[in-house]
Amino acid sequence: MTAHRYAALAAVGSALPSRVIPNSYFESFVETSDEWIMDRTGIRTRRFAGPGETTASLSVDAAKQALEAAGADPQSVDMLIVATCTPDRLLPATAAFVQARLGMSCPAFDLNAACAGFVYGVSVGSAQIRAGAADRVLVIGAEVLSRVLNLADRTTCVLFGDGAGAGLLEPAEEPGVIDSLLAMDGNQALLLTIPAGGSEQPTTPETAISSEHTIHMDNGQAVFHQAVTGMSAACASVLEKAGLAPGDVTWVIAHQANARIIAAVGKRLGIDPARVVIDVAEVGNTSAASIPLAMDRAWRAGKLSPGDVVLTAAFGAGFAWGANLIRWTAPMPGSTE
Ligand code: ACO
Repeated sequence: MTAHRYAALAAVGSALPSRVIPNSYFESFVETSDEWIMDRTGIRTRRFAGPGETTASLSVDAAKQALEAAGADPQSVDMLIVATCTPDRLLPATAAFVQARLGMSCPAFDLNAACAGFVYGVSVGSAQIRAGAADRVLVIGAEVLSRVLNLADRTTCVLFGDGAGAGLLEPAEEPGVIDSLLAMDGNQALLLTIPAGGSEQPTTPETAISSEHTIHMDNGQAVFHQAVTGMSAACASVLEKAGLAPGDVTWVIAHQANARIIAAVGKRLGIDPARVVIDVAEVGNTSAASIPLAMDRAWRAGKLSPGDVVLTAAFGAGFAWGANLIRWTAPMPGSTE
């Protein structure tokens, strides 16, 4: 009988710009307050990229950390996936810049599933490994959302931050990535969008003046409710398929959009709140970067140990959403095992 081939996360890494933006920053642009933002989102500060910092540069920093933790040479990576909705340029893929700067020679592409980008990337990368098409796949989630914010729109500008996270997938004899669920409801595409700058509405002086190159969110409450419903259903489905119960989950690492959304997902699934990672306070919503960033911060803080069952779930523009059920295999960072 042929042995099964699975994929597992060998290591993760992350990077944040150094510039810290407190809630009070927005008070000079719109009518808002630290109290409102903290109360409604759980966000206290976020990081904004400084001069020279881009999605590619943050990706490179996060990737270096993950590769170093795994003891892997960049040249040994067979495929690079950069999940982002804030690419350095529309052309070429941000993955091209990252691949060159890391000194890699593997195929590389961008993946845009907005906030669900890392969940999509892990699923695609794992499938490549299971099929025997690749041994090492580097999946990065990275965003510089500060450059697509409308500082005159209080319903969106206070929510987002910049950052990157990376995960290195390797073949394994036992499932590390146990199962994934990916979903999209394109009928909701216009609820969360950047209207201009693409082929539908190319850049003109008028689109620039009317801030059409920034994030537009039509109905925050609808996004909130659908995020809770979508992520909970995706989590329940992957758990059921794997024959696991909510009580078997060691950590839920959901997309860090809003502390209330994350808590509601945990509650709906009946998971102990102490098992639900909420890491939004200091970084805000970093879209595709949010799961690997929260994962890396939890791992380096000593929270994640080999054998843990980690349930990741994300929801965002598209609407695209999904979940990955992961058996954690990476030893503690710095451990010699
Ligand atoms: N400061 C002060 N007041 C504000 C702000 C602000 N920054 N933003 C909105 N308000 C006001 C609204 O105008 C409204 O005022 P009104 O009652 O006079 O009309 C009031 O606060 C309440 O607004 P709601 O939209 O009902 O507030 P809610 O509690 O739903 O919180 C929020 C808004 C934080 C946007 C929430 O709906 C949310 O998090 N939605 C999910 C959106 C999201 O995360 N999008 C990111 C991308 S998708 C994703 O990552 C899942």
